[in-house]
Parts: sequence; C-alpha cells; structure tokens
Amino acid sequence: MGVKKIVGKVVKRAATWNDLPFGTVVVAAAGSSERMEGEDKLFASLRGLPVIGWTLRALQKCENIHEIVVVTREESIVPIADLCAELEIAKATKIVRGGETRLDSVLIGVGEADPRAQYIGVHDAARPLVTEDIVKDAFRKAYKYHAACPAVPVTDTVKACKNGFVTETPDRKSLFAVQTPQVFSAEVLKAALHNAKLKKLEITDDCGAAEAIGISPALSLGSHENIKITRPLDLKLAEAIVEERLTK
Ligand code: CTP
Ligand code: MG
Repeated sequence: MGVKKIVGKVVKRAATWNDLPFGTVVVAAAGSSERMEGEDKLFASLRGLPVIGWTLRALQKCENIHEIVVVTREESIVPIADLCAELEIAKATKIVRGGETRLDSVLIGVGEADPRAQYIGVHDAARPLVTEDIVKDAFRKAYKYHAACPAVPVTDTVKACKNGFVTETPDRKSLFAVQTPQVFSAEVLKAALHNAKLKKLEITDDCGAAEAIGISPALSLGSHENIKITRPLDLKLAEAIVEERLTK
C-alpha cells in the first residue's frame, strides 16, 4: 500500500465522530430573566421556537459534543424535557435543577457530566444563535490549550471609571468581548469552579474562574451574531439575524 493511501486512511479515521475526545456541554438555563421585563427569555418565541430550543438544536448538531447537561429552574425541567423529545435532542440526557448563582448552576451541571468527559463546555442557554463553527473552534482550542473562549474585538471605547469619573482608557486593540461556549479540559474546569466557590470569587464567566487558578484561556472564533438575549431588544435583534440566515 502506497504512503498516500495510508495517510488517506488515517486522516479519514481521525475525522469520525467516535475519535474525538468525549465532550460534554453544560447548558446554563437556571436564571430568572430579571432584565426581560417579566418574560422568561428561554421560553420566549424566536420565529416560533423557544430560545432554548434554538440553543439545544445548535449544540445537538456539533460532532465535538457527545452529551448535553441542562441545568435549569425546577419548573422548567419538564417543559425542557418535552422540548428535547419534540426536537429529538438525543444528546440531552440530563436535565437538572440549577442553583442560586450562575456559578452554582454550572458547578451542579459539571458534577452531572459523564465520567468519560475529557472536555467540558459551558454555554448560556440565552445564546440561541451559536453556530457549529463557533463550537468547533472553541473545542479545538481547548484540546490544545486547556481553556478557550469565543471572542470578538470590542467596537465601543471602554473606560475604567470610579465614583462617576473616568480613571483610564485601556487600549481598545487589547480588548475583546467574550461569549460562550467556553470550553475547558475537565480537570481544569472542575478545579477552577471549586476554587471560585471556595474563595467566593465574583466571577462573571467561567474563564474568569480558570484565570484565577493561573490558566490563560485561548481566544477562539466568536461572532457578533452570537448574542446573549438579555433585554427585550435583544430578542428583536435575534429575530432579524434568524430572518437573514433563513434568506441566505
Ligand atoms: N443562569 C443559570 N443559573 C443562574 C443564573 C443564570 O444557569 N443562577 C444562566 C441563565 O439562564 C443564562 C446564563 O446563565 O442562560 C447567562 O445569565 P444571564 O444572561 O444573566 O441570565 P439571567 O440570569 O436569567 O438574566 P438576569 O441576570 O437578567 O436575571
Ligand atoms: Mg443573570
């Protein structure tokens, strides 16, 4: 057999689903949508499908993900299970009750991950427009660097302020807005989250927890379309993005 044939065979094998390290994604869906003016944003309709339905459908499609753990509010467990059945989200094998803070919810979700999980991603259920390319690149960077987060350069000038006055203008070229899924090797994420909980760190994302134990997460492909539904206006923007994608 010629060298070319051997190479061809190896490459083909490495590209199959089973050869990728076991990947779990924890979907954080236990928030209270306080900034949505009374609407549970995860069940808000986005072109006829609940926001979380879009999120789960996008994750189900990704070959790097073998298991989806959904962490949610008690009253949403059954509706999400029904939605998973309806949309055939076969990878969503665990739907569990979350915690008071996002960190608590993620810790619970990570605790439910399959023991085979080598890499764990954490994704905001409120980011329904995530794409396979974004997920893939975050996993690939995590395979190499232990931690990765999708990022986009900030477009606004960002000021550091104190007591109502500007104290500093950081160089915009060094500033990025980070998104989810943030992906980690399982040991790194577990150590990082437990440390953050123990030390009561006020982290706003999971990479922040990894940084606190000395890890420097790699930036991966982000998108200005991978928005987080936070306020009613975000839902309108998401509708417009979906509309545009459907006409492409
Ligand atoms: N989240 C969670 N558990 C919490 C708080 C938040 O799983 N205790 C999840 C949310 O459901 C959301 C993601 O973390 O998908 C990002 O949080 P955010 O956008 O702040 O959502 P909410 O906390 O629901 O919104 P708000 O802060 O306006 O109440
Ligand atoms: Mg919140």
